[in-house]
This record gives sequence, C-alpha cells and structure tokens, in this order.
Amino acid sequence: MASVYTHIQVVAIDQASQLPEDRPGNVDWRRHDVNLGLEQYHGQYDVVHVRCIGAGITSYRGLLEEASKCLKPGGLAIFIEGDFDLFDEGQQKILEPAGETNPDGCYLQKWMQGLFHL
Ligand SMILES: C[S@@+](CC[C@H](N)C(=O)[O-])C[C@H]1O[C@@H](n2cnc3c(N)ncnc32)[C@H](O)[C@@H]1O
Repeated sequence: MASVYTHIQVVAIDQASQLPEDRPGNVDWRRHDVNLGLEQYHGQYDVVHVRCIGAGITSYRGLLEEASKCLKPGGLAIFIEGDFDLFDEGQQKILEPAGETNPDGCYLQKWMQGLFHL
C-alpha cells in the first residue's frame, strides 16, 4: 500500500526485528507483539490491514477487537488469513484431527489446529 499510495503515511507493526529489504520511505516500522494490545494506536487510523499473522496470535477475537479500536470513526479494517482446514481426497469433508479418543484421525490436522488455536 505504501508503495502504491505514496502520499499516505503507513505504520507497519511486526514482532520480528528483521525489516524487509524494499522499504518505502512513507512507512514507520515498529517492533511490537500485538498480543500485548494496541492501546497506543487506538483511534488514529483510516485503514487497518492485518494479514497472515494468525499463527502468532493467542486470541484472534482479541486481535479483531484491538485492531478495530485503532480506527478513526468510519475507518476500514481488513483482516486476511488463510483457511488451513485439511479435506479428504474428494475435498468434501474436513478431516477429523487425531487425538486420544481418535487415534485414526489426521495428525497434520491436529497440528494445524494447534498452530492456529482453533
Ligand atoms: C506469514 S508472515 C506475514 C507477513 C505480512 N503480514 C504479510 O502479510 O506479508 C507472519 C508475520 O507475522 C508476524 N507476527 C506473528 N505474530 C505476531 C505478533 N503476535 N505480533 C506481531 N507480529 C506477529 C511474524 O513476525 C511474521 O513477520
């Protein structure tokens, strides 16, 4: 967004210390774990864009609420995450995760659900 809309100011938040090589000049990069809240950003932004960080989020519902609070009145929040459910070969049925009561279930599905706190 920052590259395309050069007249806007963007604040980019990530907990990682490594910055991308291609860094537009209109981006203010900040290192922060969003699980700790976003109170310092509340009420300041026209657009909030959250993409593909689900694996690092302890409560996605909490993130939805916190990120939405960062908007000014009438602002737009965009959340983008993948669908990580695994389906059977016919792509009709979501595979059951393996577990103590379901040893024949799918261990990869179990791992995916644990990863995304489902
Ligand atoms: C798959 S990458 C996506 C990067 C970028 N959002 C994108 O869409 O291109 C996941 C990123 O989420 C960041 N992340 C995961 N959990 C986070 C958290 N709790 N707070 C801040 N950043 C987090 C990781 O450091 C990583 O850079």
